[in-house]
Amino acid sequence: MLLNLFIIIWVILFLSVLATFIYGFPAMLAVGPIPAHKKGIGKALELAEIKPGEKFYDLGCGDGRVLVRATKDYDCYGVGYELVFPYYLLAKARAKLSGRSDKIEVRCKNFFKADLQNADVIFCFLTPKLMQKIGKLLKETKLKSGVRIVSYAFSIKDMEPEKKIEHSKENWNIYLYKIL
Ligand SMILES: C[S@@+](CC[C@H](N)C(=O)[O-])C[C@H]1O[C@@H](n2cnc3c(N)ncnc32)[C@H](O)[C@@H]1O
Repeated sequence: MLLNLFIIIWVILFLSVLATFIYGFPAMLAVGPIPAHKKGIGKALELAEIKPGEKFYDLGCGDGRVLVRATKDYDCYGVGYELVFPYYLLAKARAKLSGRSDKIEVRCKNFFKADLQNADVIFCFLTPKLMQKIGKLLKETKLKSGVRIVSYAFSIKDMEPEKKIEHSKENWNIYLYKIL
């Protein structure tokens, strides 16, 4: 019995590592698993002015901490995309433990293939290079009118932010964009 459990755990671990190498390694190289700071998450969510029942998307949701906070503090629905399988599992577990799993959906998928048409708020904490691509993605996607995009740390190239607030000593700002 104990041996079976041990084997199952090892198989799960092995598959997670394998999936990370196959699907998630490029994402891990592109941007590490650095999570947003607790205070910064609060500021970013405040900036987005999320209303109850709105759909909040986190592109590259990591361990799901922003999703959980948004759904808890603003009673919204959260959708997260995460390419690295172990982070995806962590995000799922965090959502479950938070008691908000009915309001949170985590997808182990590349966010460049995400359907963003229902999003009211889009959050991202990525690298400057990925933010350039996000700018292109947002321009090419049919988004709801009034959608707010909050970028933690880096700005979106060729888009004028509606607001910018200073966040940390490292000069990491938080940017708010609105699509009218
Ligand atoms: C800096 S972390 C931010 C995590 C979380 N949003 C937060 O603020 O705490 C960026 C995350 O994006 C994920 N990521 C990078 N490129 C991705 C892609 N194309 N599709 C899905 N996830 C991606 C990485 O695996 C990483 O977990």
